[in-house]
Amino acid sequence: MNQRKPFMAANWKMNLKRDESVELVKAIAAQAPDPDRVEVLVAPPFTSIATVKEAIGSAPILLAGQNMHWEPQGAYTGEVSPPMLVEAGCTHVILGHSERRSLFGETDEMIDRKAKSAVRFGLTPIICIGESLKEREEDRTTEVIEAQLRGSLKSFTDQKRLPPAVLLAYEPVWAIGTGETATPEDASQAHGVLRTRLRKVLGDSRAVATPILYGGSVKPENAAELMRAPGVDGVLVGGASLDPVSFLAIARAGVPLT
Ligand code: 13P
Repeated sequence: MNQRKPFMAANWKMNLKRDESVELVKAIAAQAPDPDRVEVLVAPPFTSIATVKEAIGSAPILLAGQNMHWEPQGAYTGEVSPPMLVEAGCTHVILGHSERRSLFGETDEMIDRKAKSAVRFGLTPIICIGESLKEREEDRTTEVIEAQLRGSLKSFTDQKRLPPAVLLAYEPVWAIGTGETATPEDASQAHGVLRTRLRKVLGDSRAVATPILYGGSVKPENAAELMRAPGVDGVLVGGASLDPVSFLAIARAGVPLT
């Protein structure tokens, strides 16, 4: 039996002011799917997190930061710390998104430090992994995503101290915001590679329990097909998560049929 509950996540990126964030999350909350069957999570910009938390109230919607620094406090102008995310109401944090890697120079080593710190402060990391178009064309997808996974979880592996929970998001860079989606076969293949590598890092039982999400141009039209792909446990949605109708349609595609 699949012990991983479908996990449908929205990454709002640098979009929506506070009023718009509240409007969107209320619309999602009003029709959120059964939390026993599917998890729903939103990741607003920092300035909206606390307000969105209030708007969620007791609705079954989890809250994540889109990034954080690894230090708990200090002279790091412009950064936000793990305890600040926790205080604002987050339970999760997205780490190593390809936009952080490519536009802000984040490395596997930085993501590893962030993952370790997130866990220390009680946040569940959602670690993003994915190859660029060039890497894909050079047939290096497996090598690249394995290396990213190894590098991003290095501290846990070295110290043989497993995080209580972690999620992965396979987000091929060429599929993000481009309208190009990985085929379900592509996604299954990459998720299989990641799960095999996870077994080596976390051990069999933890690897089997770890959800691996797919991200990259997920829309209502392709969500159900992607969710049926073996090894795909959920989605991380960018553009299509900014509209309640399309995000709710995607979230419902995660509800198991039986
Ligand atoms: P899009 O759904 O806009 O392609 O973005 C995917 C993504 O980057 C989610 O983190």
